[in-house]
Amino acid sequence: MERPDRLILGIETSCDETAAAVVTADGQIKSNVVASQAELHAEFGGVVPEIASRRHLELIGPVVREALEQADATLDELDRIAVTQGPGLIGALLVGIAVAKSLAWSRRLPLAPVDHLRGHVASLFLQPAPVEPPFLCLLASGGHTLLIDVRDDGTQNVLGSTLDDAAGEAFDKGARLLGLGYPGGREIDRLAREGDPAAYDFPVARVPELDFSFSGLKTALLYATRELSPEQLAERRADLAASYQRAIVTALVERVRKAAKETAAARVALVGGVAANSELRAGLADAALAPLELCTDNAAMIASAGRFVEPVPYPGYLGLDAYASR
Ligand code: KG4
Ligand code: ZN
Repeated sequence: MERPDRLILGIETSCDETAAAVVTADGQIKSNVVASQAELHAEFGGVVPEIASRRHLELIGPVVREALEQADATLDELDRIAVTQGPGLIGALLVGIAVAKSLAWSRRLPLAPVDHLRGHVASLFLQPAPVEPPFLCLLASGGHTLLIDVRDDGTQNVLGSTLDDAAGEAFDKGARLLGLGYPGGREIDRLAREGDPAAYDFPVARVPELDFSFSGLKTALLYATRELSPEQLAERRADLAASYQRAIVTALVERVRKAAKETAAARVALVGGVAANSELRAGLADAALAPLELCTDNAAMIASAGRFVEPVPYPGYLGLDAYASR
């Protein structure tokens, strides 16, 4: 991708966001369209894979069209298509991959398969303020919690990851126990501001090395809420949210600090949906952050990562498959 004005169409359908974006080879965002399905899954308290796949199928056409229109570009002006290959919900991924393949094939374009997690990291490489490696990256989302050592030669080493639930998942499950809406991270974040973070002494799992664990915390919240009547729960909800959030954020911040020390990282960066959390942002005030709309799932980050992937030339990608986990 030598010429900086070359256009990449990114497509992301790994979970419950149907997204398309147009990004230039030098990382300028021309458009970034995200259709969230969150409301559709809210009544189930989590993403229902089959519903997600069907909804992606309905939304992907209009979302791609909108991304091209907003970028004032046509399919003929694209130089490359980038698509999330995994990890994620397999049926959801396949919708994006099928669309990306057919669009690329119809214009004889190369196709860049992108790893979703590398996509999150690549949200930091976009204009107007790209973060230069090396840095230590905390990726905390609904599906993943990883500490990644990002080197300036492009290598990314995973230093630690969650042994059970992801940080976002812990927020979502906690919100459910507290009778809050889905997705729960934002709800807990909002409610926590009204509560006392020291009201409950929830456990901060200190597993060995640089890994994370959040399932014990979730169980502790379950026990705490079980003892309360509905009236008592309503009264203590903000304190529970604040204390629960404090435990998650403490675990994340502690691990980041430990990893930064061990790797002598000069810089720390924060990506993924949980990066929107105000207490985490305050706890890692020196961390580099992508803008909020690039923290949650989007296709600009996929197009961005697609700049650094060796694309599969036409028509070699027709057999390309999705992968559910790494
Ligand atoms: O990156 P993302 O959009 O999707 C995945 O790839 O998983 O992250 C979504 C996650 C959800 O679990 C959501 O509850 C969490 O990010 N989240 C938050 C906040 N906003 C979103 N968690 C804590 N505080 C927030 N303000
Ligand atoms: Zn994600």
